[in-house]
Amino acid sequence: MKIKNLLDQSKQKLQGYSPTPDLDSEILLSSILEKNREFLFSHPDLAVSKKDSQKFNQLIIERIKQEPIAYIVGEKNFYRRTFTVNSATLIPRPETELIIEKVLEYYHREIYLSKNTFLIDIGTGSGCIVISLIKELQKTQSNFSALKAVGTDLSAKALVIARKNSKKFETKNQINFLEGNLLEPTLKKYPAQPAPEEKSLKDSQLIITANLPYLSQDIYKNCPKSVLQFEPQKALLADKNGLGLYIELLNQIKTNHLDQLAWNIYLIFEISPEQKELVEKEFKKIFPNIQMRFSQDFAQKYRFIEIFFK
Ligand SMILES: C[S@@+](CC[C@H](N)C(=O)[O-])C[C@H]1O[C@@H](n2cnc3c(N)ncnc32)[C@H](O)[C@@H]1O
Repeated sequence: MKIKNLLDQSKQKLQGYSPTPDLDSEILLSSILEKNREFLFSHPDLAVSKKDSQKFNQLIIERIKQEPIAYIVGEKNFYRRTFTVNSATLIPRPETELIIEKVLEYYHREIYLSKNTFLIDIGTGSGCIVISLIKELQKTQSNFSALKAVGTDLSAKALVIARKNSKKFETKNQINFLEGNLLEPTLKKYPAQPAPEEKSLKDSQLIITANLPYLSQDIYKNCPKSVLQFEPQKALLADKNGLGLYIELLNQIKTNHLDQLAWNIYLIFEISPEQKELVEKEFKKIFPNIQMRFSQDFAQKYRFIEIFFK
């Protein structure tokens, strides 16, 4: 069958099942043919083999069952790069790209190149945040050896994908991926009092990025079927109105005295917009003197909090 006929058919089949039947059909056929979408438009009369047509129709069935396109094709764009994803990782969201922008702004404004800098991405998933940051900093940073980066996750399966992405983007030598709860694996690997030649969190500039699960039970249960059925619940849902993991993370910083040991700390978290007031209240209970700056996503909803310790 010709490309144009296959596409016409699949667009019809996806009507009512996907908000974007044309785009979905084009992405799925492109992935089967291993060509870009422009190729489909410029070769409408090209015949697709029976085997490829069958594979394509199978993908359309998966899409009708609401499987997200990113999982079907195994990749998702994030900050101008294509990351591998699978059902163990969250699909990176466009708004999370704003974390990259904000960290880069902070970095260029506040980082002292003479000091060791530790970048810690907690709940790294596909590794999209930490890998994007390292790639962007590589473009501008002259003293790159002073920068150490860590990506951590509770999910060993997600870390397999993060390491795969790190290899693909050639950041393997810059980023250590560690398994464990929040800051625990980092504190174990880089204790505050290390052997003299090792890098330490002590006296370092710390940048901690976290897009941890932050949905409350009420918000989670109203998510679309494609999220509930296909994305890992452990990547999305948290207790204490969605703030449980962020509260635990701040408590880890406090009990390990990182706020006093580090030379400087900057934190940025992605949150759910309705949590703003609760975040202000709960975070101040742990660290009464921090400065908090909230900022909005593309839909003008409060989505990020930056925390400054001095
Ligand atoms: C919302 S996803 C974010 C993934 C990725 N950073 C992104 O922005 O696409 C949250 C991630 O946190 C991980 N996670 C959940 N609980 C955790 C914990 N206690 N410690 C470390 N990681 C955790 C999940 O496995 C998941 O990969």
